[in-house]
Amino acid sequence: MEIIRTVNRLREATEEAKKKGLTVGLVPTMGALHAGHISLIERARQENDVVVVSVFVNPTQFNNPDDLRTYPRTEEADCEKLEGAGVDIAFIPSVEEVYPEPDTRVFDLGPVGEVMEGAMRPGHFNGVAQVVSRLFRMVNPDRAYFGEKDFQQISVIRRMVELEGMELEIVPCPIKREADGLALSSRNVRLSARQREVAPNIHRILAESVGLAPAISVADVKARVIDSINAYPEMEVEYYEIVNPADMQPIGEWSQAGKEAVGCVTVYLGDVRLIDNIKYPL
Ligand code: PAF
Repeated sequence: MEIIRTVNRLREATEEAKKKGLTVGLVPTMGALHAGHISLIERARQENDVVVVSVFVNPTQFNNPDDLRTYPRTEEADCEKLEGAGVDIAFIPSVEEVYPEPDTRVFDLGPVGEVMEGAMRPGHFNGVAQVVSRLFRMVNPDRAYFGEKDFQQISVIRRMVELEGMELEIVPCPIKREADGLALSSRNVRLSARQREVAPNIHRILAESVGLAPAISVADVKARVIDSINAYPEMEVEYYEIVNPADMQPIGEWSQAGKEAVGCVTVYLGDVRLIDNIKYPL
């Protein structure tokens, strides 16, 4: 595995691969790698000749300075995991390398960027679009891999790709969970023992609500999920929306979604903010 820290060397390496007719898969990450990231890398490994993983904690997508400051940084352990997963190139740039000048671009992300995370974390998705568009231009991948835990992020990235007229395949990959159901997240390490004990109830409650649709109304399903999670004193729902995955807009009736609706939740456990989602087949 080659560890690359400069954009020039990254371009050189990926252009060389492309010239040889090799396909390139990119897995963008912010490090603190866990089995969820490894599953994206495994998929990229199966589908591409060359696998590039970027490890970069992108400051422009943090709307909360404390969140940026406390975001786990574990480069040495990350490199070991990347090596073990058969990655060809680990791109680990500095902030100055990615942003030699401040990025002032404002993306017109449209409705997919306005609701849920877009509403709760102003500027977050614009920052994601800034960094992912830069990474796509640097690597020029055939495919890029993203976890469905950040379900809305995938729609935002598709929108950015459309706006930028880029040609690559965005590959969504299923959520990886602990044995007890908790969605893998780099933030899980910040949970206290008690918070970690109750956190799997987020997925349990979401999964149990799937059986209620479509007999019970959208509003009642939402209320039951929110009340059940909030019944744990350690947890507080920030939002629970059931959306049409085609446009990420919250639905009021099950008939407003196509073959499936997706329930997206954000829960605070102390100052740790976890997100998760569940599909309602209709
Ligand atoms: O999902 C993430 O880890 C980040 O938002 C991403 C896509 C790597 C961009 O910084």
